[in-house]
Amino acid sequence: MNSITVTVPATTANLGPGFDCLGLALELRNVVTLTAVSTETAVSHTPSITIEGEGADKLPADESNLVYQAAARLFERVGVRPSALRIHQQNRIPVGSGLGSSAAAVLGGLLAANALVDGGLSDADILQMATEMEHHPDNVVPAFYGGLTLAVAGEDGRLHIEQLPISPMKVVIVLPDFDLPTAEARAALPTQAPLADAVFNIGRAGLVVRALARGDWPALGPAMQDKLHQPYRIPLIPGMAAAFAAAETAGAAAVALSGAGPSVAAFAPDNHGAIAQAVMDAFTAVGLASRAWTLPIAQSGWASVSSRS
Ligand code: HSE
Repeated sequence: MNSITVTVPATTANLGPGFDCLGLALELRNVVTLTAVSTETAVSHTPSITIEGEGADKLPADESNLVYQAAARLFERVGVRPSALRIHQQNRIPVGSGLGSSAAAVLGGLLAANALVDGGLSDADILQMATEMEHHPDNVVPAFYGGLTLAVAGEDGRLHIEQLPISPMKVVIVLPDFDLPTAEARAALPTQAPLADAVFNIGRAGLVVRALARGDWPALGPAMQDKLHQPYRIPLIPGMAAAFAAAETAGAAAVALSGAGPSVAAFAPDNHGAIAQAVMDAFTAVGLASRAWTLPIAQSGWASVSSRS
């Protein structure tokens, strides 16, 4: 029996103005274990999948499971496939939250599978496969490397990746109990943006990178403003506009939708508990339950935590 366990962190994409480019890894990890059961009799292509933690009640445990699909794609690519596969997921990243749970599942499946069969794929190969499957390099890339990253697709489709400096800090995440699929949050966006809105974001994307690197709290608030996606998405989530205001009143230096939402991310040097409570109260006021986390930045990305053969 050969077994590999990897962890992959949560990620918050966009960070306000860096729509589809910037992403930040957070210290909340999913754990994926792949086990190859290679007895002579165990010739089965049906995976055995067990899931505990976040999404255990709603994620599929059949061949449509994302970890399985990623592993299966890798086995096909490298031309090696265990005769029987067990997958165990310990999920801490809430599903459908705007915290990169799909990116974590895809990366977990690819990375564990690559190690399990000595697939020999490079980091670039894995990142390309993950982005093809998941479509959001602003989640995939920070989950892979940790910290703050910039991922820009070239006209030839290849990713240009930069790992950017970031000061240690904690981020308050509040997830309202509201279903907003990423596809729906993307469908709400216009196909064209006014030039003035593009200019608004270009300048702030530069400022936000600099403010995060320096831990410059006064600069971070104005830098994290956005006109390309948040104005269209915030109205889709009950209480979200009030949640932004409540976070700021409670002392947050900057607030952003986490990815496509429905989570909100608040950045502050202190008062994290009070900020989380204020945001949760804003959702309670519109009848939505919510959950909150205060998470340090994950300075390192995915990790292999055990390997047994
Ligand atoms: N940049 C993507 C979006 C992230 O905002 O739609 C999706 O997780």
